[in-house]
Amino acid sequence: MTGTTPYRTYLSEQQIPTAWYNLRADMPEKPEPMRLPNGAVATHTDLTPVFADALIDQELDDDTAYFEIPEPVREMYKVYRPSPLCRAYNLERALGTPAHIYYKFEGNNTSGSHKLNSALAQAYYAAAQGLTNITTETGAGQWGTALAEAAAHYGLDLDVFMVKCSYEQKPFRRNIMETFGATVTPSPSTTTEAGRKILAAHPDSSGSLGTAISEAVERALHVPENRGRYQLGSVLNQVVLHQSVIGLESYEALRVIGEYPDIVIGCAGGGSNLGGLIAPFMRDKLCGERPDTRFIAVEPASCPSLTRGRYAYDFADTGQTCPLCKMYTLGNGFIPSSDHAGGLRYHGMSPIVSKLKHDGYLEAVAVRQTDVFEAGEKFAKLETILPAPESSHAILAAIREAEKCRETGEAKTILFGLTGTGYFDMVAYDKYNRGEMSDHVPSDEELEAGFATIPSIPGVQ
Ligand SMILES: Cc1ncc(COP(=O)(O)O)c(C=O)c1O
Repeated sequence: MTGTTPYRTYLSEQQIPTAWYNLRADMPEKPEPMRLPNGAVATHTDLTPVFADALIDQELDDDTAYFEIPEPVREMYKVYRPSPLCRAYNLERALGTPAHIYYKFEGNNTSGSHKLNSALAQAYYAAAQGLTNITTETGAGQWGTALAEAAAHYGLDLDVFMVKCSYEQKPFRRNIMETFGATVTPSPSTTTEAGRKILAAHPDSSGSLGTAISEAVERALHVPENRGRYQLGSVLNQVVLHQSVIGLESYEALRVIGEYPDIVIGCAGGGSNLGGLIAPFMRDKLCGERPDTRFIAVEPASCPSLTRGRYAYDFADTGQTCPLCKMYTLGNGFIPSSDHAGGLRYHGMSPIVSKLKHDGYLEAVAVRQTDVFEAGEKFAKLETILPAPESSHAILAAIREAEKCRETGEAKTILFGLTGTGYFDMVAYDKYNRGEMSDHVPSDEELEAGFATIPSIPGVQ
C-alpha cells in the first residue's frame, strides 16, 4: 500500500524555472572571493582569457538573486526536464522506516547525470559570444559527455582531457563523447606543458581532475584568435547557479504534494549538484523561515575534503595555473587513490558549499566505497534504477537517516539527489560483485603531503 503521494511527481514544461537562483544573494556572509596567486582579488578582466564573458558575470556576482535562463537553454531543458521527483516507497518499506524518502532523479538524459544542466548553459554562452572552441576536463566522464552533447548542439569544437584511469576503465564514455564530435585525450598527456611537467615528476600518474584542469586551461589559452575558452563542470559559483534548477524544481514539486524536507542530502565532489539541490531550501533556513532543516554533504572517505580538509585558499588545479578559491581542500597536489571508483575525486570543494559548512549551516560525512556500493545495489534492486557510484553516496546517507527514523519512530521527510545512472560504471560494479573492491582511507601523513601543496599568499594566508 502506498499513500496518496504518487511514486513520481512530474511538473509540466511550463513549470521549468525561468531563472536560476543565486544562493549567494541570501547568504549573510558571502563566500570569499577568488584570488590571483599574488593575493589580489580576481577581476572580470583577469578571468576574460579563460571563461566566457557572461559566465564571468555570473561567477563574480554575489548579489543578484535570480539570473534569467536564456530561452534557447530553457528550450533544451525541455528535452529532458522537468526531472521527476520520486518517492522511494519500495526503499521505505524495505527499511521499515516511517520516514518519507524522496529523490530527484537527474539521470534521465544521454549524459546520464545532472551535468547537462550546466553544460547547456556554458556552451550556449560561449556560442553566443562568437567563440569556436571550448575545452574541459572530465573525471568519471559524465561532465565530458554532457559538454560534448551541448557543444554538438551549439556547434562548438570541444577538447576533453579525461583523467587517465577513467579513460582506461570507461572506454564507452569516451566513445560517446567522440560520437558527439569531441576530441578526448587521456590526462596527464604529452600534448600540454602542464601534462609534460606532471609526467616528468610522476611518470605512472593515473591522473587527477586537478591535472586535467591544468591541461584544459592551457589548451583553451592556445586557441588561435582568442576564440577558445575553458569550461568547468563543478566547483565554480556559476555551475552551482545553473544547478539550482534541480533545487527549484524539487521545491515546487514538494510544494505540489504538500511536503517540505527535514533533511536534504547530496553527494559532494566539487559541490555543484549539492549546492544546486539545497539552494532554495537553504534560502529558507538562512532567512529564518525553516531554521531546523538539516543539510548533509556526503563525500568519499578516500577524498575527504569537507571532513578532513583545510579551509584555505588553494589553486583549482594541480598545475597551479588557475586562480585560487577559498574552500575546503586537501591540497592541489593531493591525488586520490586509484582504487576509488567513480567521480568525487576533486581535491577542493565549491566555495559556496565550503562557506556554508564553515559557518555551520551544512553537515558533512565521509563514507567508504564498499558501503556506498552496497547501498547502490540495494537501491537498484528496490527502485529499479542503477545509480551512479557518486549518487550512491547520497543514497547511503539517506538510508542511514531513514534507519535512525525507524529507531526513533519519527516520520521525517528526507530528500536526496539521485544525480545520475551507473550504466557506464560496470567495471566498478563488477569489482564490487566479485568482492575485489577495497577501501582506501588516506592516513594523516598522506593528507599532510597534500596540505603541503596549499600555497602561502602574502597578506592573505
Ligand atoms: C553522477 C554524478 N554525481 C555527482 C557528481 C559530483 O559532482 P558535483 O559535486 O559537482 O555535483 C558527479 C561528478 O562527476 C557525477 O558524475
